[in-house]
Amino acid sequence: MRIPLSAPDITDADIEAVVSVLRTPRLSIGPRMVEFEAAVAEAAGVPHGIAVSSGTAGLHLCLCALGIDKGDEVILPSFTFIAAGNAVLYQRATPVFVDIDPTTLNLDPGRLEKVITPRTRAILVVHTFGHPADLDSILDVARKHGVAVIEDACEAIGAKYRGRGVGGIGDLGVFGFYPNKPITTGEGGMVVTGDSRLAETIRGLRNQGRMASDGWLDHSLLGYNYRLSELNCALGVAQMKRLSVILEAREAVAMRYAKELQSIPGVTLPLLAIEGGRLCWFVFVVRLPAEFTRADRDAICEQLTEQGIGCGRYFAPLHLQPLFAEYNNPRDDLSITEHVADRTLALPFFNCLTDAQIAEVCGSLKDAIQRVAEHRANSPASSVA
Ligand SMILES: Cc1ncc(COP(=O)(O)O)c(C=O)c1O
Repeated sequence: MRIPLSAPDITDADIEAVVSVLRTPRLSIGPRMVEFEAAVAEAAGVPHGIAVSSGTAGLHLCLCALGIDKGDEVILPSFTFIAAGNAVLYQRATPVFVDIDPTTLNLDPGRLEKVITPRTRAILVVHTFGHPADLDSILDVARKHGVAVIEDACEAIGAKYRGRGVGGIGDLGVFGFYPNKPITTGEGGMVVTGDSRLAETIRGLRNQGRMASDGWLDHSLLGYNYRLSELNCALGVAQMKRLSVILEAREAVAMRYAKELQSIPGVTLPLLAIEGGRLCWFVFVVRLPAEFTRADRDAICEQLTEQGIGCGRYFAPLHLQPLFAEYNNPRDDLSITEHVADRTLALPFFNCLTDAQIAEVCGSLKDAIQRVAEHRANSPASSVA
C-alpha cells in the first residue's frame, strides 16, 4: 500500500538496542526482560510485569492462573479481536458475549447483570481501540458477584482511566506489542498485575511450568514456552522510553483526521477524549452513515485499496465467526455489535502519517462515500451488493 494501514516507528536507537543484545551471550531471560517488565508495569501503575510472547499468550496465561477451566464462563464483548475469544476456548471454558456501548464501542457494563450466572468466573474487558472501558462500573458488578476482571489492554498502552493506567486496575491486565501497536517488540505481550501470587504463577506458566523454586528440569505446573526473547525486550525497553512522545504523535494524527473529516457528512468520528483520562490512539476507526450496509462499507474499502490506501474492517464480531458458532445463542442481544461492525472502517494510522497523506485519505474517502451514496440513490436495492 502506498499509504499503509499501520507502520511501526523504529529509530536508530531502537535498532542499536536490539543489536547490542546480539553482542552478548544472553538472548533470553536476561536483563532486558527485567527492564522491559519494570517499564510496562510502571506505566500500568502496578508492581508486576511478566513479559510473554504475544498478547494472546498473555490472555491465555491470565485465564490459566485464575484456574478457569471447562464449564466456567467468561464474559467478553463480541466486538473485539479473535484472540480474546480464543483464550477462553484454550481453557475449554464458555465465552458469553455481551453487547457494546454504541459510543465508546466498549463492553456495556449495564448488561453484565443479566448474563452473569454462578458459573461466571471472569469478565474479560477490552479497551477497544485504546479507549478505556468503564472499569469502575465493571468492577462494581464483578466484586458483587466474586468474579475476576481481566483487562485486555492490548490496544491501550499508556491509556488512563480516571487518572490510573489501564491494565493495572482489574485483577490482571494484558498488553500487546505486535507491529501495528503504538509500542512494538515485533511480537510480544505483557501481563501486569498487583497480585504477587498471580504474578508468580504466571511467571512459572510462561516458562514451561517452572516455579521460582524449581530447577531448570523441575516443572511444578503444566506450563508453556511463552517467553519473550532479549532481542524483543530490548526493542520494548527502547520503545517504552518514547511512550509519551509516541502517544502525543498519534494524538496529533487523530486530531488532524478529526479536522479533515468534519467536511464529510454522515461520517461518525471516534470519541476524541475521555473525561479524567487519556486515550491511547491505536487505530482511527470511523463509522459510515447508518443507512449504509456492510456491502457499501466493503465497496468503499475496495475503492480506497485500489488507490493504494490501506483500510480495514474492525472488527468482525466473534459470535458470527464459524469458530464460535456453538456460542452464538447469546444471552444478550448483540444488535449494536452487529450494526457497528458492518459500518466501521479503519483508516491508515501511524505515528509518522503526514498532513498531506491524511488529506489524501480523507479526500478519497469523501469521493468513495459520494459514489456509494449515488449508487444507493439510483439502485432500488439501496446497496452496492
Ligand atoms: C484487543 C486485542 N486483544 C488481543 C490481541 C492479541 O495480541 P497478539 O497479536 O500480540 O497476540 C490483539 C492484537 O491485535 C488485540 O487487538
